[in-house]
Amino acid sequence: MRKDNLEVLLFLKEFLGINEILVEKEEVRTVEKELEELKEEVYRCKKCPLHLQKTNYVFGSGNPYAKVMFVGEAPGADEDREGLPFVGRAGKLLTQLLKEIGLDREKDVYIANVLKCRPPGNRDPLPAEIRACSPYLVKQIKIIKPKLLVALGRFAAYFLSGRDKVPLSKLRGKLHESVFGPRLLVTYHPAAILRNPGRMHEIKSDFRMILKILEENGGED
Ligand code: URA
Ligand code: SF4
Repeated sequence: MRKDNLEVLLFLKEFLGINEILVEKEEVRTVEKELEELKEEVYRCKKCPLHLQKTNYVFGSGNPYAKVMFVGEAPGADEDREGLPFVGRAGKLLTQLLKEIGLDREKDVYIANVLKCRPPGNRDPLPAEIRACSPYLVKQIKIIKPKLLVALGRFAAYFLSGRDKVPLSKLRGKLHESVFGPRLLVTYHPAAILRNPGRMHEIKSDFRMILKILEENGGED
C-alpha cells in the first residue's frame, strides 16, 4: 500500500467510519518500523572486520514504499563519511540518470548496497564479507518488497541473480529472476561508467528499460 493511497483510505475512514482501514495503517507503520529496527541492528553489527575501519555504517536511503530498489556494491569514502549510499561522484551520476527518466532518488526509489561498511581503499568485497553482510540486504528486500531490483555492477548482479563467473556484459540490459522474489535488471556500476564513458549509452538504455518495466507494471500495486 502506497502512502498516498493510505491517505485516501484514511479520509474515507473518517468520512464513512470504515474501521477495517485501521489494519492498513498498521501495515504502513510496520514497514517503517521494521526498516528502522533492521537499521539499528546494522548499526550494532560486528559480524566482519570491516566495522573496525569504517566511519559510518551505510544502511540505505530513499522511499521504503518504492517500486524499484537499486543495489550497489559497498560504500566508498564519501558514503563512509556521510553514512548515506551513493553520495560521491558515482552517486551524482546515478542521481542524474534517475532524473533523466523522471525519477527522484528520495521519492521514487530505494538505494542500498551489498556491504554496509566500506572496504579499505575501496577494494573489492571479499566472499566472507558478502556472506556476513548480505542477510541485511535480503531483509531490506523482504521488507520493502520492490517490484523491480536493479543491480549496479557485478557484485550486486552476482549476488541477486545467484549466478557468477558470467561476464557482466552478458547479464546487463536484461531481466532476470532474482533469487529473492522481485524481477532483476542488471546494469553497469555508475563508477565503471565514469571510468569508461564510452558505455554511457548502454547504461542510459538500461535506465529507459527500468521506466518501461515500471510503466508496464503501472496498473497493479
Ligand atoms: N559505490 C557503491 O557501490 N555504493 C555506494 O554507495 C557508493 C559507491
Ligand atoms: Fe556488519 Fe556488514 Fe559492516 Fe561487516 S560490512 S561489520 S557484516 S554491517
